[in-house]
Amino acid sequence: MTQGGRFDFEELFSDRAPEPKPGGAVQRAKYDFAVAYPDPGSLPLDELASSLRGALAEEGADLAIYPHPQGYPPLREYVADKLRRDRAIEVTPDDVILGDGSSQPLHMAIEALVEPGDVVLTEDYVYSGTLSILGRFGADVRGIRCDQDGMDPDALEEAVELAQAQGRRPKMIYTIPTFQNPQGWTMTLERRKALVRIAQKHGVPILEDDCYVDLRFEGEDVTSIHSLDDAGLVIYVGSFSKIIAPGMRLGYLAAPPQVLGVARAVKSGGGVNQFTALAVHRYAACGLREHISDINRVLRAKRDAMLAALGENMGSAATWSRPEGALYVWLRLRGDANTTLTHQAALDVDVGYHPGVNFAPDGVSGRNMARLCYGYNTPEEIGEGIARLAEVFDRAGYLD
Ligand SMILES: Cc1ncc(COP(=O)(O)O)c(C=O)c1O
Repeated sequence: MTQGGRFDFEELFSDRAPEPKPGGAVQRAKYDFAVAYPDPGSLPLDELASSLRGALAEEGADLAIYPHPQGYPPLREYVADKLRRDRAIEVTPDDVILGDGSSQPLHMAIEALVEPGDVVLTEDYVYSGTLSILGRFGADVRGIRCDQDGMDPDALEEAVELAQAQGRRPKMIYTIPTFQNPQGWTMTLERRKALVRIAQKHGVPILEDDCYVDLRFEGEDVTSIHSLDDAGLVIYVGSFSKIIAPGMRLGYLAAPPQVLGVARAVKSGGGVNQFTALAVHRYAACGLREHISDINRVLRAKRDAMLAALGENMGSAATWSRPEGALYVWLRLRGDANTTLTHQAALDVDVGYHPGVNFAPDGVSGRNMARLCYGYNTPEEIGEGIARLAEVFDRAGYLD
């Protein structure tokens, strides 16, 4: 029971406990292309502070009581209005539950539905955070081939039928249809319709993660998958992280009542942080739309800076995506490159990025790929950081 005189927990951890995670400081590079941060210079700090001050004057005494278990009702009303206006999604505030960012809503939906061994179908490269939640619940995650239009419907249907033939009904399709993370494309309307058709035909729910949808600075918006479904099988997740700040930790889930009931039970902790919700609600009601236009102008300039720097420093030795919105470029080096091996060398010259393999459901594909986020640094810094990264890749022989 003791180890070196200290109480030993090792044998007591439950079978459900995940592998321990290292603690300590998070190593961040000066040229930080690793994480999809918004532009730090654009954060609406004064506006948030005055929004909060106003809200506290009106409702501050209510902080003495625990928030509504689904989160601050006026903010849920704002979310329902926004979804109706921007995404053609018909939901009421009662259909919405707020969470810590959209990570917790994703967690709620996945915990509600996924058991060990369940098949979950998703894009061939997909957000690593969701992959780790799915891993936590023992999902058998299968990547579906994608091209610039999104998931290939034939490949998706084949994967559904294969799982069925194996006696395993797929539990869900997880997709990031708009500015897919990390690939950057937006799924076309035709593909969205095909996805809904396949999901309805085979009885597979869709988890639609739309946390980047507002960050469009080019091209045409495409309607949500949720709005194309008349069977009530889509669970929708959104976030304030990318349009205000990840530090606010505020996002939401809109789901059919059956799922919402379980999500409410899965979510512990008595509603989300009311302090944050008050600030975001007041700010969202007056300044958010203008803020989104402003940050999209900034992001377009940063995207252009990254594309230009890639062209200057990697030329024809690599290919990369040209996103019409959001925060990242998907880089593809020659086939034998391994961006996991060069990761530390890049950090040594103060450049951070996410190796491609981190986004692969099979855990091995994508070695020659990397995700480069341009939200955090200035255009000048982006130029310098990409030049340094190119030197690292060049020394490894990846740009020959
Ligand atoms: C596709 C996607 N979904 C969800 C999240 C979670 O973000 P948050 O919890 O801050 O909303 C991220 C974060 O980068 C993401 O890229």
